[in-house]
Amino acid sequence: MSKILIVYYSRKGENYWNGGLKNLEKGNTERVAEFIRKAVGGDIFEVDTVKPYSESYNTCIEEAKAELRANARPEIKAYPPDFESYDTIFIGYPNWWGTMPMCMFTLLEKYDFTGKTVIPFCTNEGSGMGGSERDLKNICRGATIKAGLSIRGYKSAESESTVAAWAKKSL
Ligand SMILES: Cc1cc2nc3c(=O)[nH]c(=O)nc-3n(C[C@H](O)[C@H](O)[C@H](O)COP(=O)(O)O)c2cc1C
Repeated sequence: MSKILIVYYSRKGENYWNGGLKNLEKGNTERVAEFIRKAVGGDIFEVDTVKPYSESYNTCIEEAKAELRANARPEIKAYPPDFESYDTIFIGYPNWWGTMPMCMFTLLEKYDFTGKTVIPFCTNEGSGMGGSERDLKNICRGATIKAGLSIRGYKSAESESTVAAWAKKSL
C-alpha cells in the first residue's frame, strides 16, 4: 500500500467565476482536494502563505503577477509533517497566470522527489494546467509524474465523480 499525501494551495475570497466575480467561502482547489481524499484516503495538507494575498480578486491578480515576474518564493506558514515518508503525492493548486502560485514552488523545491509518484490537479477558469506540469517536471526531479487533472473552478462543487474516478485510476 502506498502512503498518500494530498497537498494543495487554495485561496478563499473574491475570485473569477464563470465570467463574473464571486466570493468563495471554500476554495475550488480545496473542494477537489477533499474529493480526492474521500476517494482514495491519505493525509491532506493545505499550504498557506505567511503574507496573505488580497481578498480582492483584482488586487490578488496584481500581487500574483508581481511574484511571478520576480520569480519570488513567498514564505509559507508550515510544511507537511514527515513529507519524506509519502510515496504518492497529489499536488493541487489554482492556475495563476499560467502556472502554480509561487508559494507551491517554495514548498516543492525543499524536497527530494526521487522515487516518488506525483499526481497534479489544477482548477482554473479556462487555461487548464497551463505550464504547471512542465514546471513540476523541473522541480520534482526523479519523480514519476502522472497525467494531471484540470477542473473548471466554477464546476468544482459538481466534480466529485470525475475527480474520484481519475484519482483511483491514477494510483
Ligand atoms: C491571481 C489569479 C490568477 C489567475 N490566473 C488564471 C489563469 O491564468 N488562467 C485561468 O484559467 N484562471 C486563472 N485564475 C482563476 C483561478 O485559477 C480559478 O478561479 C481557480 O479555480 C481558483 O482556485 P482556488 O479557489 O482554489 O484558489 C486566476 C485567479 C487568480 C486569483
